[in-house]
Amino acid sequence: MPDSKERYGTVSKWFHWLMGGLIIWQFLKLGDRISEGEHWIGQTLVPWHVSIGALLMVLIVLRIFWASGQLKQRPLHDPATAFVVKAGHLALYVGMLLLPITGLLTMIGNGYGLKVFGVQLVAKGPEIDWVATLGSAHSPLAWIMVFLVIGHIGMALLHHFVKRDDVLRRML
Ligand code: HEM
Ligand code: HEM
Repeated sequence: MPDSKERYGTVSKWFHWLMGGLIIWQFLKLGDRISEGEHWIGQTLVPWHVSIGALLMVLIVLRIFWASGQLKQRPLHDPATAFVVKAGHLALYVGMLLLPITGLLTMIGNGYGLKVFGVQLVAKGPEIDWVATLGSAHSPLAWIMVFLVIGHIGMALLHHFVKRDDVLRRML
């Protein structure tokens, strides 16, 4: 169950792949820029954006608690590049935390309220300018996250197919 020096444990793997899948689903929101979302993806997958985002908010909090308990026994990185790898993973964590937070701020700040999987958690209300302003970081952060994730996937594939080491396998 827990991580070890050789590989990630079941819990870390579940967090990684479940959240990875949901985050890529969230990126489909960029599809609203094409024909104003009037297409299959925009009409079937993207309307879940707020609900999935709220789920990701809960998952990242649990994941941070879990991961901070695993710090002493995580898989090791090549010492030559360990610093960059750790900084990259930290940036992914910061993105996973700030995206749901700024998403929530966008909804509340613009007075949209918050409906999660059909349950109205926050009623529609007045616009709150400073909250909306903080929330406007959501889109630029989302773009940064897209590039971080592309780089991350690129590195994983590089390890597996070019360097042929066990970096990808220990997360599988
Ligand atoms: C990890 C979680 C999330 C990711 C990866 C994500 C990603 C994205 C992306 C890629 C866009 C399109 C930005 C653009 O077109 O420039 C977007 C827009 C939006 N998201 Fe999220 N999102 C997440 C969580 C949330 C949450 C929790 C909410 C609300 C509770 C939310 C509300 C919105 C709204 C209202 C927009 C449209 C307005 C805007 O572009 O600022 N998102 N998000
Ligand atoms: C889509 C969003 C993704 C995010 C936010 C993400 C985030 C992370 C984070 C934070 C870690 C550090 C370990 C941990 O704390 O769990 C990690 C490790 C890893 N990820 Fe991802 N990941 C994503 C998608 C992917 C995908 C699609 C692949 C495969 C192509 C992948 C391959 C890996 C591998 C191989 C590791 C282990 C790296 C190592 O031990 O040095 N990730 N990921």
